[in-house]
Amino acid sequence: MINDKNIGERSDNALNSILKIGELCLKSNIILAPMAGVTDSPFRQMVRFCGGVGLMCTEMISSRALVFNDQKTRKLLPTEAEYKAQTPISVQIFGNNPQVMHDSVEHIPYANVIDINMGCPAKKIIKNGDGGALMRDKTLIGEIVAAVAEGTRQHFGHHIPVTAKIRLGCTNDTINAPEIAEIIAKNGAAAITVHGRTVEQEYRGKADWNAIADVVKSVDIPIIANGDVATSEDIDTILDITNASGVMIGRAALGNPRVLAELEAEYKGLGALPKLSLDAKIELALKHLDVLVDIKGERIGIKEARKHMLWYLKGVAHAQKLKQNLVKANTKEQMRGLFNEFKAYIGNMDV
Ligand SMILES: Cc1cc2nc3c(=O)[nH]c(=O)nc-3n(C[C@H](O)[C@H](O)[C@H](O)COP(=O)(O)O)c2cc1C
Repeated sequence: MINDKNIGERSDNALNSILKIGELCLKSNIILAPMAGVTDSPFRQMVRFCGGVGLMCTEMISSRALVFNDQKTRKLLPTEAEYKAQTPISVQIFGNNPQVMHDSVEHIPYANVIDINMGCPAKKIIKNGDGGALMRDKTLIGEIVAAVAEGTRQHFGHHIPVTAKIRLGCTNDTINAPEIAEIIAKNGAAAITVHGRTVEQEYRGKADWNAIADVVKSVDIPIIANGDVATSEDIDTILDITNASGVMIGRAALGNPRVLAELEAEYKGLGALPKLSLDAKIELALKHLDVLVDIKGERIGIKEARKHMLWYLKGVAHAQKLKQNLVKANTKEQMRGLFNEFKAYIGNMDV
């Protein structure tokens, strides 16, 4: 944790040197992870509102659906306005057919980075040979990276880098991330994120940061370390252990889009940002609700808001009833009313 004593002692640390992904220089080496069902346009807007982050990622997007011009899938892509809104954005695609992956890039109008998903452990993804299933096929991985890099050059020119996000291997007995990373780098990727778990592990156990260090040693391109990072102490430790060039943060941002700005301020020696009061936390949740409904309409916006609202309330005392009611609410005004009732209830308890 940063305090007065150690402010300014971090000049030799990786997070204080600029992370360059291809020609893209990031203003911070902290990156928001791609999270399906979470890091959509409203969530990214909240992260920007709270102070931003070095780079943020979309949810994973099907290369096949992009090529078929599926309208629902197209909505997952960043708009021109978002692209122009300062924080660089990485569009993550998934699939297993090099030609389709190549062609899908043409359907992405705005991106600062194209990322390839090689780590998703979800059963339906693995069954199709996508995501984490790729980790068992070195040849295919090489072909996919080369194809996406070529598609990206054709569509965007040289200024949009291609990256990949991998895990340590498929299983504990088949750890191959260092070798896979070499193949990815050789075929034209500009950086690799490594989540320190195997595909088989899904999200169980603890991320193995020592195993990420082996990947850093295997390639010359930047490695972004990922898995179980939630505090500035975690950032210290993962960078010390891995010697990675940046850190990716996922679950710590659920219901807490401000955590990225908080960690960056702490890490850069600017001290801790003021802790949010309960009122401020609720304001943030309600803003997220507004943005969700603005962008997705009330029916879908409310449906998707439910899980986010519960995440905002994680650890908030006396919120059990509020949570039970929020998941039943059908309109923005109902949700807003429930939060107001809760605030009044808590206020009365203080008196
Ligand atoms: C709800 C959820 C959705 C996720 N979706 C994706 C995804 O679309 N693409 C991807 O590469 N990883 C995805 N992940 C994995 C995260 O990007 C990250 O690698 C993982 O959560 C470990 O980081 P963390 O410990 O900071 O959360 C997802 C994780 C969660 C919790």
